Amino acid sequence: MSTAVCPGSFDPITLGHLDIIERSTYIYDKVVVGVADNPAKRALFNIEERVAMAEDAIAGLGNIVVTPFDGLLVGFAKENGAQVIIKGLRAISDFEHEFQMAHLNKKLDGSIETVFMMASPEFMFLSSSAVKEIAAFGGDLTGLVAQTTAARLERKLQE
Ligand code: PNS
Repeated sequence: MSTAVCPGSFDPITLGHLDIIERSTYIYDKVVVGVADNPAKRALFNIEERVAMAEDAIAGLGNIVVTPFDGLLVGFAKENGAQVIIKGLRAISDFEHEFQMAHLNKKLDGSIETVFMMASPEFMFLSSSAVKEIAAFGGDLTGLVAQTTAARLERKLQE
């Protein structure tokens, strides 16, 4: 059985993330969405909220599990029996950082491959940071995040 990990902070999960996750399910038997719990990165949503948002957003899609992780990504991939880490690539700016991480992960565990999937054109310039900024200024999130995510963002910003 082929298993792939789609890792990220998902603060919050966007339709761009979901596009990569869904397309991964067409290639791999099982997709594990790994939600990174990295206290060094100040997130708007805590890990439980980010996992819940991802679970709500993937509802209706098959062969996907959402799991939080801390520590190294290659360790998480191994624990989940994944042979592959999937990363979405947007505009050229993603490339340098992702290139570095892919090589470092390969050095840490040579049995796990990183596979890059090009972001669909409509999501090429979408990011969680942009979504948070638009939400903070009351902008329309239609076409950027799932409705359940937009509702959670609204609640969070009212807190
Ligand atoms: O959505 P993000 O914030 O771009 O995701 C980054 C993530 C979670 C994929 C990255 O920070 C990561 O892999 N964290 C796990 C720690 C790790 O393995 N670091 C070494 C990678 S070279």
